[in-house]
Amino acid sequence: MTGAVASLLTIFGATGDLAQRMLLPSLYGLQRDGLLPERLKVLGTARSALDEAGFRELVAQAIERAVPAGERDEAALRGLLDRLAYQPASTDDAGAMDALALRVAALREGDVVFHLSTAPRWYAPICAALGAAGLGGAGTRVLLEKPIGHDLASAIAINDGVTQVFDEDRVFRVDHYLGKEGVQNLIALRFGNALFEPLWNARHIQQVQITVAETVGVEGRGDYYDHSGAMRDMLQNHLLQLLCLTAMEPPSQFDPSPVRNEKIKVLRSLRAIGRAEVGAESVAGQYTAGAVNGVAVPGYVEEIGRPSRTETFVALRAHIDNWRWSGVPFYLRTGKRMPRRCTEILLQFRAVPHSIFAHTGARVEPNALLIRLQPEERIELMLMSKTPGLDRAGLRMSQVALDLDLHEEFATHRRRLAYERLYLDALEGNGTLFVRRDETEAAWQWVDAIFDGWRHHGIAPRNYPAGTWGPSSAVTLAERHGHSWRE
Ligand code: BG6
Repeated sequence: MTGAVASLLTIFGATGDLAQRMLLPSLYGLQRDGLLPERLKVLGTARSALDEAGFRELVAQAIERAVPAGERDEAALRGLLDRLAYQPASTDDAGAMDALALRVAALREGDVVFHLSTAPRWYAPICAALGAAGLGGAGTRVLLEKPIGHDLASAIAINDGVTQVFDEDRVFRVDHYLGKEGVQNLIALRFGNALFEPLWNARHIQQVQITVAETVGVEGRGDYYDHSGAMRDMLQNHLLQLLCLTAMEPPSQFDPSPVRNEKIKVLRSLRAIGRAEVGAESVAGQYTAGAVNGVAVPGYVEEIGRPSRTETFVALRAHIDNWRWSGVPFYLRTGKRMPRRCTEILLQFRAVPHSIFAHTGARVEPNALLIRLQPEERIELMLMSKTPGLDRAGLRMSQVALDLDLHEEFATHRRRLAYERLYLDALEGNGTLFVRRDETEAAWQWVDAIFDGWRHHGIAPRNYPAGTWGPSSAVTLAERHGHSWRE
């Protein structure tokens, strides 16, 4: 734990899109279940010259949009509104920052969490301003949204700026995937069961696939996205975090340092995909017009209204060069405008060493473990089973799924927004589900090499029609090695 339970949460960018869609509804969810610290105040700040009543109105509307009327707890909403304060500020206006500092000083009764939900280029200036106002010392922590920069150099510059004011153990870098129930369940599955660990290695696993597919396009975020693309927006953070949790050694405890120490080892063991490898081991794609779920949608270029070489899809064949994973390919892919929304991890086991059914023509498929994180949480273990019947030519075999539907199993438990978990942990100073500086920088270093390779060879994204699983070369990337993506 870092510090005491916070008495004040200050959100920079409090009127923004993320705040309205995720942050404020998460605070409401915590308030409803009585999980917010009793004395906690929430101070919103942004450039908008709102007064306090205007901010409360904005928050109430955000909650009304996020929580259907029938499910809304009006007393909880009022309880949240009672905690709110608002102070307009802008980093380049010293007077306004001084006024903000005075407001923070007046509202705090103990520790303060500053959540920077702004463009990352403001992180270092905001921290510098907080430091100058005497708000960066003991009893304060800072929560940073991804992306931390757009490459290694800019990430280092931001991290340097932030850590001049906040020591690393008071910096909480958000990857909202770590706040998802399904992602934490991956940790529970691996380390709460003795069954999997003996099989969780190159001797028994043939290949791993991590897919994060979205059906949405860029949804009005074109200006941000066009400078980012799928690699920076999703792969550098969410997919590499999933990879770390899938591949890491067992940490000694579920605590910040042990968990992050294991994750960083995975990132540092990733084999570089550089100029010599990008052609064979990576694919970039960009969607063109097509149809998703039967609805016609425009292409990326039409959506953002200008020509672009930004990738909206990326697929990679990665390797982790250590004892556990030597020789096991990790196929990673993420894209927008895919046929369905899904986040899943597939571990395909090796085939039986000898099939006693071969002479009858029965095919014995390798076992597989599928961990689905979204849209529903589900764990499936693919096993071979006899197909019922009195076949005289020999047994017929089918692959069946031993299926654990976690929504059904825990039907009475409310599904929580990722930020509910993350806010709770940040307010209590628990950094286990946040990303450490070295992880972010190691991830950028690996991703930068791929960009360098793409630039060097002039590799541009290949088109794929919206509503498909990416360019055909993504299929070839796996098939060349005798593997196929799960679809
Ligand atoms: C964000 C990306 O980090 O994650 C978005 O910036 C993406 O582009 C989103 O849509 C996906 O998150 P989720 O929780 O919907 O899987």
